Amino acid sequence: MGKNGQVGQALQQSLAALGHIVAVDRQRCDLGDPQTVLATLDAEQPDIIVNAAAYTDVDRAETEPELAMKINAHGPRLLAKEAEASGAMLIHYSTDYVFKGDKDAPYVETDSTAPQSSYGRSKLAGEEAVAQESSRYLLLRTSWVHSGIGKNFVKTILRLAQNQAALKVVADQIGAPTSAAMIAHVTADLISFCQKYAMAGLLPNQKIPYGCYHLTALGQTSWHAYACLILDLARQAGMVLKASPETVTPIPTAAYPLPAARPANSRLDTTKLRHAFGVSLDQWQDGVQQTIAQLAR
Ligand SMILES: NC(=O)c1ccc[n+]([C@@H]2O[C@H](COP(=O)([O-])OP(=O)(O)OC[C@H]3O[C@@H](n4cnc5c(N)ncnc54)[C@H](OP(=O)(O)O)[C@@H]3O)[C@@H](O)[C@H]2O)c1
Repeated sequence: MGKNGQVGQALQQSLAALGHIVAVDRQRCDLGDPQTVLATLDAEQPDIIVNAAAYTDVDRAETEPELAMKINAHGPRLLAKEAEASGAMLIHYSTDYVFKGDKDAPYVETDSTAPQSSYGRSKLAGEEAVAQESSRYLLLRTSWVHSGIGKNFVKTILRLAQNQAALKVVADQIGAPTSAAMIAHVTADLISFCQKYAMAGLLPNQKIPYGCYHLTALGQTSWHAYACLILDLARQAGMVLKASPETVTPIPTAAYPLPAARPANSRLDTTKLRHAFGVSLDQWQDGVQQTIAQLAR
């Protein structure tokens, strides 16, 4: 689900080798319209549902909280209920925005949640719904997603840098930029892991470590340092830009007010995921380099 989104597009490539994939968009399967969700599941009878669809406009969600809740919480609840009834596994994505962002270290899965925005509250409600309704789910919290398509920070910085010689970027929020491609290939690794258990005839509920995991690239940065790397890599890739890393000024969050509050600390600890499934994660800079290379083609 969410076939045209950043993660949805990347999933179609990464999951192709694992079996028959049916990618659906909002026109066919609208998370805000239960009838279309039920009709899609009924027609396709999936063994695994991967939900990359979501209401992701963080600032707009402040004025559309009901719609965000409908798509990010009520829709996933229905998916989880249906998955449970049919025996399907549900893979669902969530966000660092479920946390307040005032911890001094990366957040672990068991840390208390305290979303500061309407989007964060809707995503947390979605997490809770999935965990309540389904016994076979993987809930993957990620952060700062980028890819060569859709709306993201990499594309925004490059667009601004084409028109402006100097930029100001927030330097007191830290996190890990994570490529949609890495999210998708790790998702494929998790599905392969689960399929191996199923093929070995082991009872999935006893052997597959279902639950909530943090899935981000390794390392950390600020939006400001991230913007500087984007411009540096873009310059190396031959893009013609007015701004450069040297002309990006660091500013505090307070100097760039937005409708929705962002966590100051968006770092998510990925130890649980790496240990449970033996997956390896890329450094955040590698993903940015790949996205720039994609955009420079
Ligand atoms: N982007 C980030 O920085 C970020 C950070 C942390 C977590 N996440 C989470 O990661 C997941 C994937 O995000 P993404 O970056 O790939 O998002 P995205 O690029 O905004 O894609 C979201 C997709 O959801 C679809 N969608 C929206 N409303 C829908 C509805 N009512 N029914 C069905 N589909 C609907 C959109 O369809 P249209 O194409 O028709 O609009 C779009 O294709 C989401 O769960 C998101 O919350 C994202």
